[in-house]
Amino acid sequence: MRCAFGIVWAASLLGISLGRPSDVVARDSALAYYDPETGFTFSEFKAAYSLSANIVYRVAVPSNVPSGTPYDIVLQIVAPTQVGWAGLAWGGTMPKNPLTVGWANGQKPLVSSRYATGHTMPAAYTGATYRQLTTGNRVNGTHWQLTTQCTGCTSFTGANGAVRLNPTGSNRFAFAYAASKPSSPSSNTSSFGMHDVFNYWSHDFSVGQNPDFASLVVKNGGTA
Ligand code: HEM
Ligand SMILES: *[C@@H]1O[C@H](CO)[C@@H](O)[C@H](O)[C@H]1NC(C)=O
Ligand SMILES: *[C@@H]1O[C@H](CO)[C@@H](O)[C@H](O)[C@H]1NC(C)=O
Repeated sequence: MRCAFGIVWAASLLGISLGRPSDVVARDSALAYYDPETGFTFSEFKAAYSLSANIVYRVAVPSNVPSGTPYDIVLQIVAPTQVGWAGLAWGGTMPKNPLTVGWANGQKPLVSSRYATGHTMPAAYTGATYRQLTTGNRVNGTHWQLTTQCTGCTSFTGANGAVRLNPTGSNRFAFAYAASKPSSPSSNTSSFGMHDVFNYWSHDFSVGQNPDFASLVVKNGGTA
């Protein structure tokens, strides 16, 4: 008994002090994933939030973005039902970058635009605009899946001034996850509790290039 108690105690201590699974090592990069439903080619990263489960983050970018110009992306998040909310930090930290937070709202997933200035509840953020596509959004018996266009996720004011993510290279990302659902799931300004797990990785946009990005966006119900 004493031994079992000790293991639980040690595990909870580790969880609290590290805030993420201690033996999950962040892989760098991303793999190409072609989504037959929407037709986009995404760069895909599977973010482990436990030793046996992950949240899939996929980013599709337009090919041939002129240097220095802002660009839209399409983000897809696939999360097991037990995920209460899942967040993506586009600059790889909690404060001072666009945060995309998604969760299941009945039979549809919902996306919320946030920005934090510190380690407290992120406020609504108007610097990024989301349009959920007519495809790739569902809640079923095992998962919820969000697919959204974002304008403003790749250019923002960070802790050290203007940031523009590299459309053809690797960008530092972070994710956060909580098992608990937001308090008002039907509202994109709902409050929610702190994450149970967060982690970082380097997301390689080069494998999610789409020469026909604009036409795919329109075909899937977004706006060019
Ligand atoms: C109610 C909402 C939230 C609260 C109260 C909260 C609070 C905190 C706190 C206290 C820490 C420091 C933990 C530590 O150092 O061990 C932290 C770290 C972190 N949080 Fe949050 N958080 C919230 C939402 C989010 C969201 C939506 C994201 C989106 C991805 C996020 C991403 C992170 C990351 C990546 C870290 C690691 C440190 C850093 O990059 O600054 N958090 N959070
Ligand atoms: C919530 O949705 C409305 C309507 O689409 C949008 O104008 C607003 O910016 C969104 N707020 C957040 C926090 O996502
Ligand atoms: C439920 O949704 C997930 C994520 O989109 C998908 O992988 C899975 O095949 C779906 N399950 C069924 C039974 O359609």
